[in-house]
Amino acid sequence: MIAAALLLAAAPTPAPPAFNYCISCHGIDGAETGLPAPNLHDVVGRRAGSRPDFDYSPAMRAAGAGGLVWTRETLKSFLANPDAVVPGTAMQRLPPGAPVDDVIDWLARR
Ligand code: HEC
Repeated sequence: MIAAALLLAAAPTPAPPAFNYCISCHGIDGAETGLPAPNLHDVVGRRAGSRPDFDYSPAMRAAGAGGLVWTRETLKSFLANPDAVVPGTAMQRLPPGAPVDDVIDWLARR
């Protein structure tokens, strides 16, 4: 029992099902590049539009330059309506009702 608990604690937490929405475009393994969307490996606590390996829209770069940082709160607003947080962003709206809170919790724990 104790060994099993230790094993579970050491294993990376599997992505929640709603992350399937994201991985059609985004990567999560930091070494993965060349995808249609920026890598989300280190996203929580990072300035918007700041990965050097992704060609962001001018809108996303401007948002980062203007001080937008990805926190639970800013992610929640952005995922609910990307264009309302970053007007002109290349990221489209997710399907209505997509359970993004699970995804945010999981990203924040990584
Ligand atoms: C259809 C493709 C697509 C899907 C699906 C998608 N995104 Fe995105 N996302 C993008 C693109 C493209 C950008 C870059 C936007 C820009 O440069 O304006 C982006 C940008 C982002 C950013 C800003 C990253 C940064 O480096 O500043 C976050 C955070 C983000 N997406 C989270 C998510 C999450 C979480 C999901 C799943 C719930 C998701 N996205 C689903 C295409 C997608």
